[in-house]
Amino acid sequence: MKAWRERGSVGGRDGERREALRVAGVDLDPARAQPGGGPSGERGHEHDDSRPHDHAHPHGHSEPGEPPIIGIVGAGAVGTALGVALTRGGWPIAAVASRDPVRRERFRELVGGTRAFAEITPLLDEVELIVLAVPDDAIAPLARSVRLYSGQALIHTSGALGAEVLEPAMAAGTQVGSFHPLVAFADTERAVAALHGATIAVEGDDQLVALLAEMAERIGATAVRLAPGTKAAYHAAAVLAAGGFVALLDAIAELGRIAGLDESGALAIYGPLIEQTLGNARALGIRAALTGPMTRGDVGTLEAHLAALAVHAPDVLPLYRAAAAREIALAEGRGVLTPEVVGRLLGALAKNP
Ligand SMILES: NC(=O)c1ccc[n+]([C@@H]2O[C@H](COP(=O)([O-])OP(=O)(O)OC[C@H]3O[C@@H](n4cnc5c(N)ncnc54)[C@H](OP(=O)(O)O)[C@@H]3O)[C@@H](O)[C@H]2O)c1
Repeated sequence: MKAWRERGSVGGRDGERREALRVAGVDLDPARAQPGGGPSGERGHEHDDSRPHDHAHPHGHSEPGEPPIIGIVGAGAVGTALGVALTRGGWPIAAVASRDPVRRERFRELVGGTRAFAEITPLLDEVELIVLAVPDDAIAPLARSVRLYSGQALIHTSGALGAEVLEPAMAAGTQVGSFHPLVAFADTERAVAALHGATIAVEGDDQLVALLAEMAERIGATAVRLAPGTKAAYHAAAVLAAGGFVALLDAIAELGRIAGLDESGALAIYGPLIEQTLGNARALGIRAALTGPMTRGDVGTLEAHLAALAVHAPDVLPLYRAAAAREIALAEGRGVLTPEVVGRLLGALAKNP
C-alpha cells in the first residue's frame, strides 16, 4: 500500500502519522483512478445509464489538468476555512452560497474573486464541484431540494454522515462523496494552519476520490479512505478527541476554581501536565502513559477524591468515575494491580460517598 502521491521524503510528525495510519491498515492510497479536469475527469465523460434522468446544463467546466470549478455552500467555520485554504493552495473558489449577508461578505473578503449567492440554486449554474459545508441536519434536506447537472459532483464535510445522504440530488453523470477534515474549526486562520498535516476521510467512487485526494493534498492534508461501516466509530473518536477533551478541560477548570485558580491559571498549571501525558502516550503507548492513584492501587486517595467531589463539585463526579473505571481497567491490563486491589478500587468507585 503506497501513500497517495508520494511527496518526496515525509519526515517528522507528519511522516510518523502517515506511518501509523499505514500500519493501522487505513487506505492512504484512495486514488485508484487518475484525477484530472474536474469531477467527471476528461470532458465528454460517460453518463451512467443506470440513472435514467440526464440533467444537462451549460455550467462552468474546467479544462483537463485544471482544478475543478468549486462552489461552497455555507460560509460558516468549515466552509470559510476550506475556501481560504484551497484558494491559497491554488484551487480558487468560484462561488459561495450563504443566506447570511455578513458571513457572505466576510467569505468574499477572506477568499477573494468569488461570486456570492444567498441560495444554492444559482451556485449550481456556475460550478462543477459543490461542497456542502452546512450543519449535519441541513445536509439531507438540501440534497433533496436540488438536482445536479451531469458532470457535477456534490460532497459534504460531515464526519457523522455517509455520502449516500446526497443521493437524492443525483442525476445521470453525477457523483456524490464526502470530505471530512479531522480538524477543530474554531477560528479561520488557526483551522487553515491545522489543515496542514491533518487527515481527511474521503468517500465517493474511485474517480471522485482521486480528485478529493488531490484536493486534500492542495491544502497540505492527507486523504484516507475508511473501511465501509467504520465512519461512525472514527467520527465518535474525533468527537471525544475534540469536544470530549474540551468537556474534560472544563471539569479540570471547575476543580481548579475550587483551589482558587481562574481559567487561565488552571490552563497554565494543568496544561503542561496534559502535554506531558500526550508526549508520554506518543513515546510509550497509551497504557504505559497511565500514572496516578489507580496505577498504585491507592484506594484511600480514590475515596478522598470521591468525597471531595461529592461536596464541592458533584456534577464532575460522573466524569471522574467514568475515567477512573477506565484507568483501573488499563492498570489491570498492565498487570500492576492484584485482583484484590482491583476489587477494592472498584468497590470504592461503586460506593456513594
Ligand atoms: N466545526 C468543526 O470543527 C467541523 C469539523 C469537521 C467537519 N465539520 C462538519 O462541517 C459541516 C459544517 O460545520 P460548521 O462547523 O462549518 O458549521 P457552521 O459554522 O454552523 O456553518 C454552517 C453554515 O451553513 C449554513 N446553514 C445553516 N443551516 C443551513 C440550512 N438549513 N441550509 C443551508 N445552509 C445552512 C449557515 O448559515 P448561512 O447560510 O446563514 O451562512 C453557515 O454558513 C458540518 O457537517 C460539520 O459536521 C465541522
